[in-house]
Amino acid sequence: MKIIMLGAPGAGKGTQAKMIADKYNIPHISTGDIFRSNIKEGTPLGMEAKEYMDKGQLVPDDLTVRILLDRVSKDDCRNGYVLDGFPRTIPQAEVLDNEVAKLGQKIDYAIDVNVPDEAIVRRMGGRRCCPKCGATYHIEYIRPQKEGICDECGSDLILRDDDKPETVLKRLEVYHQQTQPLIDHYSKLNILRTVDGTKDMQEVFEAITEYLEA
Ligand code: AP5
Repeated sequence: MKIIMLGAPGAGKGTQAKMIADKYNIPHISTGDIFRSNIKEGTPLGMEAKEYMDKGQLVPDDLTVRILLDRVSKDDCRNGYVLDGFPRTIPQAEVLDNEVAKLGQKIDYAIDVNVPDEAIVRRMGGRRCCPKCGATYHIEYIRPQKEGICDECGSDLILRDDDKPETVLKRLEVYHQQTQPLIDHYSKLNILRTVDGTKDMQEVFEAITEYLEA
């Protein structure tokens, strides 16, 4: 089961990818999370990625592709994975398609979580993340049991650096220019399903599992 999550920043890809990973017992691989954990550890990769992320730009393809291919070559990916935030450009998608084809396999499902830009801007301002375990909440829609504290590990929740309004607008612009063309790419491969990401997260998940189990 090799699944790709598409959608604008803040559409709910990460939220749904975690639910898919739990239900089907496959790894959830987020390039954004990999970059953020490298930033936290102060690695050279993290320092390089941070320069782009803070400006709302994409990290260069060569760097991103290298870390992604390294991750999917690990043993826990043998039965599949759910990719969240990769691919994000046509060259990234082509490398992934080719690498998977070399193993005699293919990407099975591409899911586009569709949310209009206005709703995205509202969501991002309210998102709170756990810097320790990566859990994600929203101050209105998905609240932790105790305000400001992660349900999973008890850490203080934070606003991501790239969730500031001006950076969110830049990320949306980059999404429309560089990532949206992937919808066409996977549609032509006949593996694309668009789900309405404005619905409640359980309803979105039901639409996704209906597709995965059809
Ligand atoms: P990344 O971490 O991938 O960020 P993103 O794609 O911009 O997506 P987000 O994590 O912001 O949002 P999401 O869609 O996962 O939404 P979430 O579930 O959190 O990338 C960050 C940066 O890293 C990029 O800008 C780039 O610089 C770099 N990068 C990463 N991958 C790269 C690549 N392949 N190539 C180049 N550069 C790369 O939900 C959002 C909020 O809404 C949350 O608060 C959540 O609780 C809430 N929510 C979720 N679902 C619902 C719902 N149904 N109803 C109401 N609220 C909801």
